[in-house]
Amino acid sequence: MADDNLKGQRVLLCVGGGIAAYKALELVRRLREAGAQVQVAMTAGAQHFVTPLSFQALSGSPTRTTLWDSAAEASMGHIELARWADRILIAPATADLLAKLAHGFADDLVTTLCLATTAPITVAPAMNHRMWGHPATQANIATLRARGVQVIGPEDGPLAEGESGPGRLSEPGAIVAALSPQAESAVAIDQALKGLKVVVSAGPTYEDLDPVRYLGNRSSGKMGFAVADSARRRGAEVVLIAGPVHLATPAGVKRVDVRSAAQMREAVFAAFPADIYIGAAAVADYTPRAPAANKIKKSNESLALDLVRTPDILSEVAAQTQGLKLVVGFAAETENVAGYARGKLVAKHLDLIVANRVGVADGGFESDQNAMTAYWQDGERVFNPGAKTRLADDLIELIVERLNA
Ligand SMILES: Cc1cc2nc3c(=O)[nH]c(=O)nc-3n(C[C@H](O)[C@H](O)[C@H](O)COP(=O)(O)O)c2cc1C
Repeated sequence: MADDNLKGQRVLLCVGGGIAAYKALELVRRLREAGAQVQVAMTAGAQHFVTPLSFQALSGSPTRTTLWDSAAEASMGHIELARWADRILIAPATADLLAKLAHGFADDLVTTLCLATTAPITVAPAMNHRMWGHPATQANIATLRARGVQVIGPEDGPLAEGESGPGRLSEPGAIVAALSPQAESAVAIDQALKGLKVVVSAGPTYEDLDPVRYLGNRSSGKMGFAVADSARRRGAEVVLIAGPVHLATPAGVKRVDVRSAAQMREAVFAAFPADIYIGAAAVADYTPRAPAANKIKKSNESLALDLVRTPDILSEVAAQTQGLKLVVGFAAETENVAGYARGKLVAKHLDLIVANRVGVADGGFESDQNAMTAYWQDGERVFNPGAKTRLADDLIELIVERLNA
């Protein structure tokens, strides 16, 4: 990298104990080429993969390897180092480090530095794709993102253990580029929704049968929450209408909690006018005609429920003209996914529909992973299967393209 985008920046590189630790050596070289001063701190795990001496040789400064260093700590060295850094880069960030950071642990040098600093923190995760996809890791990443931590990668591709999936450390050149102050303007997509208002619906709806029972569905809300987060990070004002789910609200997003389809409709229309509507909620199609005032008692051998249609929020939104530039629907199908999705696109007058197959392993409802295809009137895009957070970014990118088409 010939640019000196990081000129004068003091970067503290924290190296975690992953197989990709060797790539952090290349990172030091790239950071210095970009004009940064670099100091390196390693976890105990990292030292099983690469030696502190290699980092010392490349960074030109002693490598810090432990909190329990009496010489360095004579002057509270860890606080000094935390203050010295203009920014902290953790690469590779292990699943373990992400968990510790999300929960505020400070039981070694790297985690203590991260807690003691006021500098911005960037993490570049690298791990086995199942570790990355695990709900614990995804929740930790969401917590860190919500706290303003910059997350770079991981990339999709072959992994050290002979498998393939999201988990590869981003290339050192890409990490350094994403750190540079110019990165925000260089990545035009990041602010491509600035000035626009996006309303996203997410999660299931619950239709009450009586005071203790309801008709619901298995939507987790994860995809809609990830889409709301992605739109917000690209500069949009985002209102998230959430059915009953237990998910953290993405940073900077206005959340409105609802329970039933009728409440969801009301909240969606109350959030208008808006520029973009993304209907990612799994809204019930039917609701009891009249919920029982008291608990329905077990009496007859069978029970027939009298159900009536709920409002079709997506069709109603697409039919109204409050300045919406784009209406996006989701189709969760178990069969003939493309056929049903295209049918819904036309029948509901949508601009874009995102189809995913539910009821299969590693995708759809409840999972952190998904496989989706988007359809519009004269085109379609098959997204690489992977984490819902990454797919949300891909979808928002497509939405930006369609807005400008
Ligand atoms: C050969 C080997 C490779 C590993 N690769 C990774 C990895 O790529 N990512 C990861 O999160 N953990 C990986 N681990 C597990 C971590 O080393 C382990 O969770 C350790 O506690 C991390 O410590 P640290 O987070 O303090 O660096 C690996 C372990 C071994 C033995």
